[in-house]
Amino acid sequence: MDRLNTNMWLVVVVLLLGIIPFKALGQKEQVNYQPQLNTTNIKEVVAAMSLEEKIDIVVGPGMGNRRSTAVIGRIGGAVPGAAGRTNAIPRLGIPSTILADGPAGLRIDPKRKNDDATYYATAWPTGALLASSWDTDLVQKVGASMGNEVLEYGVDILLAPGVNIQRNPLNGRNYEYYSEDPYLTGHIGSAMINGIQSNGVGTSIKHFVANNQETNRQEVDAIVGERALREIYLKGFKIAIKNSNPWTVMTAYNQVNGKYASENDDLLIKILREDWGFDGYTVTDWFGGKNRVAQMWAGNNMLQPGGRSQKSQLMEAVENGTLKVEDLDRNVECILNIIVKTPSFKQFKFSNKPDLKAHADLARSAAAESMVMLKNNGALPLKKETKVALFGVTSYNIYIGGTGSGDVNEAYSVSIAEGLEKGGFIVDESLKAIYTSHIENDLVENPKLKKASFGVTRLIPELELEQLVDKYASVTDVAIYTIGRNAGEHSDRRIDNDFNLSDIEKENIRQISDAFHRLGKKLIVLINSGGVIETTSWKNNTDAILLCWQPGQEAGNAVADIINGTDNPSGKLTITFPEKYEDTPSAKSFPGIPVEKPDQAFYEEGIYVGYRYFNSFNVTPSYEFGYGLSYTTFEYSGLSLSKSKFKDSIDLEFTITNIGERAGKEVAQLYLSAPSGKLDKPSAELRKFAKTRLLQPGESQTISFTLKGKDLASFDTERSMWIAEPGEYKVNIGASSVDFRLSEIFKVKKEIEVEKVNKALVPLVDIQELSK
Ligand code: BGC
Repeated sequence: MDRLNTNMWLVVVVLLLGIIPFKALGQKEQVNYQPQLNTTNIKEVVAAMSLEEKIDIVVGPGMGNRRSTAVIGRIGGAVPGAAGRTNAIPRLGIPSTILADGPAGLRIDPKRKNDDATYYATAWPTGALLASSWDTDLVQKVGASMGNEVLEYGVDILLAPGVNIQRNPLNGRNYEYYSEDPYLTGHIGSAMINGIQSNGVGTSIKHFVANNQETNRQEVDAIVGERALREIYLKGFKIAIKNSNPWTVMTAYNQVNGKYASENDDLLIKILREDWGFDGYTVTDWFGGKNRVAQMWAGNNMLQPGGRSQKSQLMEAVENGTLKVEDLDRNVECILNIIVKTPSFKQFKFSNKPDLKAHADLARSAAAESMVMLKNNGALPLKKETKVALFGVTSYNIYIGGTGSGDVNEAYSVSIAEGLEKGGFIVDESLKAIYTSHIENDLVENPKLKKASFGVTRLIPELELEQLVDKYASVTDVAIYTIGRNAGEHSDRRIDNDFNLSDIEKENIRQISDAFHRLGKKLIVLINSGGVIETTSWKNNTDAILLCWQPGQEAGNAVADIINGTDNPSGKLTITFPEKYEDTPSAKSFPGIPVEKPDQAFYEEGIYVGYRYFNSFNVTPSYEFGYGLSYTTFEYSGLSLSKSKFKDSIDLEFTITNIGERAGKEVAQLYLSAPSGKLDKPSAELRKFAKTRLLQPGESQTISFTLKGKDLASFDTERSMWIAEPGEYKVNIGASSVDFRLSEIFKVKKEIEVEKVNKALVPLVDIQELSK
């Protein structure tokens, strides 16, 4: 052999040596290679996995025989009643992890077979209420306690928070969401995530994105302009992801501009990973999407709850080459990156004994802190010992939360009647007996509908009061009437007898108002609802209105704390109450076309959602975004800006003084009016907010904000860029989106290019968007 030949042979031998072990490390040998998962060897573990094992990681094990007819998670196993779990691969040290709902508290079965212990969780004030506190510290505290229950009951990931925009008052799940405004939504959401994840458990921010209705939610195509997507629907997710790094993101059921959210690579790769740098895993909503292979391509890392047929579809796709192993590997890696952080991986010894008493106390104060007083002509607070004529079915049978996966299995709930009694009031016994027997009879007649559950949101009919009213006006000191509404997953609300009051309710309020006012006595109305209702036609008949939303298990106690003045209301609206439903900007296009089972929902209002619409188009609402009363009064003074020309930022400060007679807290809001240049601009947008500490009468607090380029920016669709246009910007400091108390102007000399992003989610069909 000459030298060349020898070299050639050497090359061949080296190549063979390289190839043989590689080739030989087929299915069997890989199984013998068993690195144990840790935080540093994830790629190595992925390389050691068989195809079947990889598919086991990206597809959950299904719900076994616990699958109900409804699309709602419920598994057996280690934590019965949790929504789902991931498969274990013991030979590689990969544990099974557990995922459970939801935004208002941990949803698991409270009782287990052959076990006397109970596993109740705290039903916290629902999202719509909690957000009305505008208090990120409080929300973080609630999150920390909620997350502690997740940890102590052996769950790894809480399927929360829900940060979809409350686009339309009829959305059945608005109770789970925070606001019509994305800035507020994002900051409340990140406080919640930071709180929950401080326990070393994960969250799943949901439903990504444009899941703004329940009607045909699994099919409907949300057709939304790029600017509206970026400025309204994606923005809350972006803020929360940047500020709190949720471990997982749950993709929405619906389609967004022609593709299912879970199959949408624009959404999951270009926006979520590339634009925002998200590094956790994405998971489908339960049974969400259609094409399992497309979900894998698009970077929807995990399918829940999973099941055998999904696994075989993926197996087949790899075998026939439609699914590349690299795509699968990427998805597996994203999941393992999170699994190594979980309590299950760390073999945390959970107690099954969270401190439910301490959590109940926090649930009570958080609910009271968040309620919004819409009207008060001196009727509230009420003196203790006041004799109360308590009307309305939900005064005795309160809806503490909405229905579906966001419903918690709590140990007890406190009704308004009970709360008022414990809070020092005398609730008329004979009226209470009338309502109690009405409710019991109704439940006997309709046993199956005892509790509003998934897809069933039946309200117990109101009593027609008529002659009862005069009697109680004479024997009691004050009337309280509760209007109750419930809604939830799977169906949206209706306009008649839901958004609008029923004839009986209107008549009841009118009669109570007449009878009590005739005797110089007052009427207080409580709203116990998960969503907005009409208030224009009846509010003038009342002396006070307290919006309680759905207050969680301590409901009645929290209501009593406001009514007797133990707590001073400091909540403000996070959604507009229109004068009539038709005034809502999305009224014409909700829930889409055809109306009964919409295939398409055109978001024709564009960026003009909520107060952005009402303010810009001069439509007067019944109660505006950001509005809420207190038992005291606040004065705003001394707004000063650090400069009058914007460069990289502007600092500003102002002072809030309690000029009333009771201690209280105020929510101050900064609305920026940007110049309309190339881009159309809403008349003002919320860019900052802050809640004061408890200010004693006469006490002041200075509030400081810093405005940066991103706070000035709007989305320029043509260039896929956030820009701040040149011109005059007006800073409005307001007690609401209408009640501006202070203002100052600054200038931007030339256009600021704030952030360039990917071109993504371009609508495939024409959409006529509203503009000024
Ligand atoms: C809901 C999700 C929930 C999941 C698991 C779905 O029906 O849309 O919000 O997390 O069920 O229960």
